[in-house]
Amino acid sequence: MSEAFGFRAFGGPQVQEFFDRPDPVPEPAEVLIRVTAAGVNPLDHKLRSGVVPHFYGERPFPQVFGAEATGVVLAVGAEVEGLDVGDTVFGCAITGAGTYAGTTVLVGANTARKPAGLRDDWAATIPVAATSALNAVDQLDLPRGATVLINGVGGGVGLVTAQVAREQGLNVIGTGGTAKRTLAEAVGARFVDYTDGDVVDRVRALVPDGVDGLVDLVGGASLRTVAPLAREPGKVVSVADATVAELGGEMVRRRVDRADLERAAALMVEGRLDPYIVGTYPLARAAEALALVESGHALGKVVIDLTRGPGVGAAE
Ligand SMILES: NC(=O)c1ccc[n+]([C@@H]2O[C@H](COP(=O)([O-])OP(=O)(O)OC[C@H]3O[C@@H](n4cnc5c(N)ncnc54)[C@H](OP(=O)(O)O)[C@@H]3O)[C@@H](O)[C@H]2O)c1
Repeated sequence: MSEAFGFRAFGGPQVQEFFDRPDPVPEPAEVLIRVTAAGVNPLDHKLRSGVVPHFYGERPFPQVFGAEATGVVLAVGAEVEGLDVGDTVFGCAITGAGTYAGTTVLVGANTARKPAGLRDDWAATIPVAATSALNAVDQLDLPRGATVLINGVGGGVGLVTAQVAREQGLNVIGTGGTAKRTLAEAVGARFVDYTDGDVVDRVRALVPDGVDGLVDLVGGASLRTVAPLAREPGKVVSVADATVAELGGEMVRRRVDRADLERAAALMVEGRLDPYIVGTYPLARAAEALALVESGHALGKVVIDLTRGPGVGAAE
């Protein structure tokens, strides 16, 4: 049995609640873990709102928030290879089991051993945010020296995308609100504040002929505004909005296998990738953590530290 934070019906924050739940029994392809850290993502509140109910299939309520975590393996399903009881691992809980909980199950194929030297909270940001960044930049397949625009550079995926792009020798321009400038520039992006004048004009002032590729992390009207900045429509990849196809671009093709997880982890261990965790909350304050992300204007990454007792510690 462990404490979990989730919801018993689709809706706004008012449907959120804490409850005790029995430790999930791992399916043959899953591992049961004691969670040490969980990443907070926009997907979490989107699932609670019911806008993507298909994502977890017909999962019964209550559902638990969270899709990515680090933890210690307590039990291993019969079909899982390469993971053992006692390993510290990080991965995805796409079965709807959630990760804002003391224990959960992860999908074995989407879970990897955490390398020595990698912090648990950093590892917990890899399965959703960091692999999205890797997948999006890989999909653009731009040559070194090309210029990529990252729309929404200051959030959990954006700052990592900028670093991955810089690693691949790309020039980076990033859009964001005023508070995102310092970190965007710290990761090597030329920053365009979308609240300060016409964002398209301001990007064109930097690159009159437009950009070679665009990674969109915002979607909607913002995506439609900036998409024409890409010289080729096919070089627009959105992580946030499938209607990018209407513009000639592509939705990111997600892959969260062990190779991707290990690649991102290696970059972090080597000091070449920082998830920029700007908010760490104990489980008791998970609602605050989620509200920060639900604001739509988070800076960097938000995580829940399950090693902290109820109410212990403040957001950092
Ligand atoms: N398909 C997948 O597997 C997958 C995986 C991860 C994430 N996603 C999706 O990708 C999106 C981004 O995720 P995330 O974790 O990075 O979210 P996040 O941490 O909330 O960051 C989003 C960022 O966009 C900025 N933003 C909002 N409006 C903007 C605008 N008009 N122009 C430029 N920037 C703007 C926000 O702050 P400011 O406005 O203050 O700059 C914020 O920093 C979400 O929709 C998420 O659901 C999808």
